Amino acid sequence: MKQEKVLIMGAGGQIGVELTMALRALYGEANVIASDIREAHPLLAGKGPYVLLNAMDANATLELVKKEGITQIYLLAALLSATGEKDPKRAWDINMQSLLQVLDIAVQEKLTKVYWPSSIAVFGTTTPKQDTPQKTIVEPRTVYGISKYAGELWCQYYYQRWGLDVRSIRYPGLISWKSEPGGGTTDYAVEIYHEALKHSKYTSFLSADTYLPMMYMDDAIRGTIELMEAPAEKIKSRVAYNLSAMSFSPKEIAASIQQHIPSFEISYAPDFRQQIADGWPQSIDDSAARADWGWQHHFDLDKMTADMLHHLKG
Ligand SMILES: NC(=O)c1ccc[n+]([C@@H]2O[C@H](COP(=O)([O-])OP(=O)(O)OC[C@H]3O[C@@H](n4cnc5c(N)ncnc54)[C@H](O)[C@@H]3O)[C@@H](O)[C@H]2O)c1
Repeated sequence: MKQEKVLIMGAGGQIGVELTMALRALYGEANVIASDIREAHPLLAGKGPYVLLNAMDANATLELVKKEGITQIYLLAALLSATGEKDPKRAWDINMQSLLQVLDIAVQEKLTKVYWPSSIAVFGTTTPKQDTPQKTIVEPRTVYGISKYAGELWCQYYYQRWGLDVRSIRYPGLISWKSEPGGGTTDYAVEIYHEALKHSKYTSFLSADTYLPMMYMDDAIRGTIELMEAPAEKIKSRVAYNLSAMSFSPKEIAASIQQHIPSFEISYAPDFRQQIADGWPQSIDDSAARADWGWQHHFDLDKMTADMLHHLKG
């Protein structure tokens, strides 16, 4: 069997740091090259190959792929939902151009697989909000969501036209303690744990009863690797898979924290992110991922809260 050599682009972000560590455990440290436009995250610095690479630079990417004999790319570099709304054209350019370049390089260099994440942001106000199906009305309202849905269709196109094995997940909001969130609408669900431990209070930028689909990073990383390791014939959707674990509101996460920190207080000051959240599903139907390649989540809200607080306390 051919040894895989993996390139991760955008490895310094919330997902990239943990995915890099998990893939290195699987393929060996030397076989997973982490790259980003930023200097290495402290958890990656000095711990394996790390390259400064702009995902917008097709020539530099191609050169690296050839030089290192890369067989798989995980493209994580992107502008996220809240950041994207501040500069829509830039978000479109970064999110689309980096994807199309990677897809072309993957076809040209005959890579075995590409991973590119999508998001629940592909859904909009016209989508059913509860148990949002895999196949449903898709009319995203943010530039981020538009770029994700266009990207999903491009991935499917490259699969159908050139047989490129590109796989994708529509992540819900991701919660982690090792790396910081990068400008999404669900970032409150990470900040709240830090503030609960530091100040015993938190002001949420989403209102008390805003339900959103969420997932603990451990589940997201395991799910990503399971999808990528699944035999190709099990991958029946070549747009991104819905993936779900839990759904909660700011009021409910606060109650979960209060079980550990009874003095914790939450207040609410919704900002522009409220409107983004109001356009997204409240819960997700991921039965296709469960049936096709055996997805299962392990963390619910209370289990996640216990784990987050345990690790952040240090
Ligand atoms: N975190 C979530 O809740 C979530 C949810 C749904 C989808 N996603 C998707 O997962 C992927 C990774 O998200 P994340 O949360 O880790 O984001 P993040 O913002 O934390 O990390 C993105 C990384 O990409 C890097 N980057 C940005 N522009 C770059 C460029 N031109 N070249 C190279 N690197 C560049 C940034 O420096 C950063 O380290 C994105 O595609 C995002 O849309 C994330």
